[in-house]
Parts: sequence; structure tokens; C-alpha cells
Amino acid sequence: MNDIDQIIDQVSDYLRYKAECGERVVEVEREALVALRAGVGAAVAAPTHLKSQISNLTESNSVPPSTLPPLNTSTPRPPDLPTSRPPDLPTSRPPDLPTSRPPDLQTLAAIAAECEACRACGLVDGRNKVVPGQGCADSPPIMFIGEAPGADEDAQGLAFVGRAGQLLTKMIAAMGYTRDEVFIANICKCRPPGNRTPTPQEMAACIPFLKRQVAIVRPRFIVALGNTAILGLLGETGILRIHGKWRQFEGIPLMPTMHPAYLLRNPSAKRACWEDLKLVMAKLKG
Ligand code: URA
Repeated sequence: MNDIDQIIDQVSDYLRYKAECGERVVEVEREALVALRAGVGAAVAAPTHLKSQISNLTESNSVPPSTLPPLNTSTPRPPDLPTSRPPDLPTSRPPDLPTSRPPDLQTLAAIAAECEACRACGLVDGRNKVVPGQGCADSPPIMFIGEAPGADEDAQGLAFVGRAGQLLTKMIAAMGYTRDEVFIANICKCRPPGNRTPTPQEMAACIPFLKRQVAIVRPRFIVALGNTAILGLLGETGILRIHGKWRQFEGIPLMPTMHPAYLLRNPSAKRACWEDLKLVMAKLKG
């Protein structure tokens, strides 16, 4: 991968995380924008979705956008930029993008890239997309942790987007939040074949990623969803026994409750789950 490809990848990751945090506009220094546009214009393989993401960046100084060259692969390179790469762009990270917490967001994106490249267990061989997890990366009220991606998540690269995910979305809404306001992740980042439960070895291989995500995201509370989550996070078994009882993971208060897929199969357990979630809400308010 050459320099500009690396920069494009990192900017793309960064923009995706900002979007998942609900932000629609990112301020960029004019110089960086000119350099990016020149680079993207020259990068033959640059994906079109990235071009449109970059075209939505807003400049942080007063130069009107109309003075910048249009973003288009046929745009001639500005005469003052060399053909190899812009002069002051570092090779290993995107140009300075002023935000509240860029280093952490970039680190989260770096973890996602490591998950993508990970070969520590055999799950990689059967999955389509890795599912690192997504949502608000800046001390959200809650981080929900499930088991592992299913078919829909594997197809989209996003956690909890299938039927169980739709129920989780309702649970989050009932607590007064949107999905963008919380963080959603899994014990395992790759789909086990046939949606089987991940093995202890597969969980052990993946948990270091989750620990690093928790350290970066710093949620106020964790909600562990189901048996695999409590086994992976706490080494405990029996969600129906321990749900509603406070625990801790990496120093963060953790509430175990039933997995949404279990609730779909056992709707009568929804009431008990709601009582568990109300305990979290009470602490968030208090
Ligand atoms: N079940 C999970 O545990 N995680 C998902 O992302 C989807 C379904």
C-alpha cells in the first residue's frame, strides 16, 4: 500500500467513526483539504464513497470553497504540488484534522484495522466482514457487549443489525438513547460458522481487542448481553442466575442481562431484562 492509499484508508476510518458518533461536518485546514483533494484525484483506485466523504469536509479558514479545484478524477493536479505526494503530509497518519479527540478515534480505527488483519483463530476463514463494533467513542453512557456477529452483521460489518439488533435498538430507545449515543460491540469480532457459540479459545483470542476498546471508549456502564458475554468478560456462567446483579469489567460497572436473541425466543423474559436496564438507568440519573 503506498502513502496516499494509507492516508486515504486512515481518513476513511476516521470519517466513518465521526459519522457513527453522529457528526456530519468535520473542519479541515485548507492546506490539508487541497492536499487530500489532489491525492484523491490522483489515486486511481480511490473508492467513490470516500470521494464523497472528502467532498463533505468543510474548511476551517475563510477561503471560499469555490477557489478549490473540484473533486474529480479528471481534475488536473494543482501546479504547485509534486506528483509523488504532497510535501508536508506525514506517511503514517492523516493530515491534521482538528477534532476533540482525534488520537483516540484514530486508535479505535487502528484496532478495527488490527481486527481485520487478525489471524489468531480460525473464524477469519469463514467470515465475510469483520465486525469491530461501533457507536459513540467518547465516554458514552453505555457500552453493550454481545456474543459475536450473525449473518447480517457479517454481511454489513456492523454489530447488532439483524433481528436481535432491532430489538437491541428498541431497548436502547426505551432507555432514552439512540444507537449513535452508545457503543455496541461483541466478544468475538468474526462470525462463527452457522452462528455457533464461540469457543473459549476464540473468545480468548478476541478479548484483548475488546479490552483496548473499553479503555479507549471509557463507557460509564457496560451491559453484558447473554451467556457468552458474561463468560468472556467475567468468567461466569448462568445469565438467568446473575442477571440484575452488578459486576465490574476493567473497573467499569457492568450489568449482566439477557441477550436480545434469547428475548426474541422467550418474550416473557423481557420484563426481567427491563428491570435490569432500569438499574443502569437509575445509576445514570443518580
Ligand atoms: N448477536 C450478537 O451477539 N451480536 C451481534 O452483533 C448480533 C447478534
